[in-house]
Amino acid sequence: MNCAFVTGAVINTGAAIVEKLAAEGRNVVFTGRDAAKVAAAEAGYRAKFPEVSILGYAIDSHTPEGVIDENSVLRMFEALDEKGIFIDALVLNAAHLGLNQTFLESPLSDFLAVLNTNVTWNYCLAREAAKRMIPRGGGSITFINSITAYRTVTERTAYITSKGGQLGLMRSLALDLGKYNIRVNAVLPGNIRTRRWLENPEFYASNPGCRTPLGDVAEGADIADAVWYFISAARNTTGAELVVDGGNNIQMFPN
Ligand SMILES: NC(=O)c1ccc[n+]([C@@H]2O[C@H](COP(=O)([O-])OP(=O)(O)OC[C@H]3O[C@@H](n4cnc5c(N)ncnc54)[C@H](OP(=O)(O)O)[C@@H]3O)[C@@H](O)[C@H]2O)c1
Repeated sequence: MNCAFVTGAVINTGAAIVEKLAAEGRNVVFTGRDAAKVAAAEAGYRAKFPEVSILGYAIDSHTPEGVIDENSVLRMFEALDEKGIFIDALVLNAAHLGLNQTFLESPLSDFLAVLNTNVTWNYCLAREAAKRMIPRGGGSITFINSITAYRTVTERTAYITSKGGQLGLMRSLALDLGKYNIRVNAVLPGNIRTRRWLENPEFYASNPGCRTPLGDVAEGADIADAVWYFISAARNTTGAELVVDGGNNIQMFPN
């Protein structure tokens, strides 16, 4: 059975991507870290999209000791193999946001945790997925990156570094995997209206990132539409970046 695979998809943007894929008739495997939340999300998706197969999987990028957990990635892909599930579209959405870290004071371990989740873990996931796509004639890998890979914000050194590194990983994989018909691309959101947004309305009301040329920021569904383009329609596109930011990136200053 062919499936798309979305990481970090219990809530927010990842959930919107699962819903878009399922609405388009795709079977979906998704991940979250908390088994109970994964089970609840799985039940919700199955009730909403009974015509497709939806499977949740609880997995963390790190072991409890804080070490990047390649073995759990290997075990997860082997478990999918045993169920006859083939991932033909990998969507790397999960991210360590690296909030509340400061360059001058935070320990190196905080920086590495962000890099490990956002770059190293995705490297492991992409490698296991690609190994299985190659004998089946190809597939697609889509990173949910961030406009902050180019336009920095204060006190987010680890996150911004990781998103820059992710684009390097994306381009490198696009080059190395193109000959196997595996397309590797990135969606670059500006601000997305997530649950955090709804819980902090004052913060976002004064956030200059909201003053976009289009006058609005992205919904999760807008990011999901961009993902769907890369998965379903972009036959000759690899190594590409699709910005979904209301036009923010073109401004010298927010207007
Ligand atoms: N929100 C924005 O304004 C914005 C802007 C630009 C780019 N983006 C990017 O868009 C993507 C989605 O953003 P979002 O705001 O929807 O994210 P989010 O709500 O913070 O969700 C991120 C997901 O990543 C998972 N995750 C975090 N740490 C993890 C770890 N150590 N191991 C495994 N999974 C982990 C979380 O899993 P749990 O469910 O288990 O907590 C969560 O489901 C991210 O790549 C983000 O960088 C977001």
